[in-house]
Amino acid sequence: MAKQTIRDVDWHGKRALVRVDFNVPLEDGHITDDTRIRAAVPTIQYLIAHGAAVILMSHLGRPKNKVVESLRLTPTATHLAELLDRPVQTVPVTVGTEAEAASKALEPGAVLMLENTRFDAREEANDPSMAQDLAKLGDVYVNDAFGAAHRAHASTEGIAHLLPAVSGLLMERELEVLGGALEHPARPFVTIIGGAKISDKIGVIANLLGKVDALLIGGGMANTFLLAQGKSLGDSLVEADAVATAKDLLDQAANSNVTLLLPTDVVIADRFAANANTQVVGVDAIPAGWRALDIGPQTRAAYAKVVLEAQTVIWNGPMGVFELEPFAGGTRAVAQALADCPGMTVIGGGDSVAAVEQMGLADKVKHISTGGGASLELLEGRVLPGVAALNDK
Ligand code: 3PG
Repeated sequence: MAKQTIRDVDWHGKRALVRVDFNVPLEDGHITDDTRIRAAVPTIQYLIAHGAAVILMSHLGRPKNKVVESLRLTPTATHLAELLDRPVQTVPVTVGTEAEAASKALEPGAVLMLENTRFDAREEANDPSMAQDLAKLGDVYVNDAFGAAHRAHASTEGIAHLLPAVSGLLMERELEVLGGALEHPARPFVTIIGGAKISDKIGVIANLLGKVDALLIGGGMANTFLLAQGKSLGDSLVEADAVATAKDLLDQAANSNVTLLLPTDVVIADRFAANANTQVVGVDAIPAGWRALDIGPQTRAAYAKVVLEAQTVIWNGPMGVFELEPFAGGTRAVAQALADCPGMTVIGGGDSVAAVEQMGLADKVKHISTGGGASLELLEGRVLPGVAALNDK
């Protein structure tokens, strides 16, 4: 069901209480990737332009229910002020009299940032008393925190039951693109799933098998599928307890019209190190003592061909240990194929985003999701509580 958005509200004279996901990486107090902050700017600008006073709330990190000085939101407020080119006020608290006074005193067009919601133990418990305290700070609730929409917390879910609740522009776009690709994709619809472990992505693969035309598997998880097909993997990372699941998923694919592709060749190494000895071998010829750390050139070419012919592509998870240069080629090849594909191309968060950014290809992919865990849950076919709680259109 489509959700109401900020476009459905008359904002004049209203206070917009906006949940953003400013959970950004910080090093020594400096933001090392501001993607999530930039992604929230259109919503904030829309609200300002339409006469709202804007009160922002977010979590940052996992402070475990107490104040952690290094996880204060002040650096994100400072950075946002630069991006908006206007002041962003801060208060050192999330709720309570100081926050209420600051929010009531806000003029239309002014922006206030509350302190980290997770400093309060009631946030992650989705305690109704926290939602009630938050509700005193605004007239309408806006959820633009797609990255945190899989969490049923006071600021992402509880609050939506107490105020009129609508989605922001980022949330709307994420749901339109990822949800739209899953529900009514232009075909062929191809997904590429990588990463170390099958166990993290069983639900995703099972759900996608009912939807896609082709599923391409890479990364460490491919090893467990190859093991399930009876191959010898040498010293490669395998999940022995996931072999039965891998077999089931292979059977499901064989009994459907889905093409499931596994690597046919791999880059192997004699150690897990950037300066290890390496060679390219077929997946039937991995010697004892060696480990597969990337997909090989034949596999890269086969995967690129499928991607280039697709109308819709979703990619989640690297094809190899791309952090180490000798094993980055497979992930690069897939990133390049997405960049070259004329269809709708989507990266579903996490490490694959880091890979395309490293390669300078980020602006060639049509949509890069700001949600790691949230986009995975959407791919699994789960309902995101932060979305479900918003008002229907
Ligand atoms: C994320 O980075 O995936 C979101 O901000 C959610 O953070 P969390 O996993 O700590 O809930």
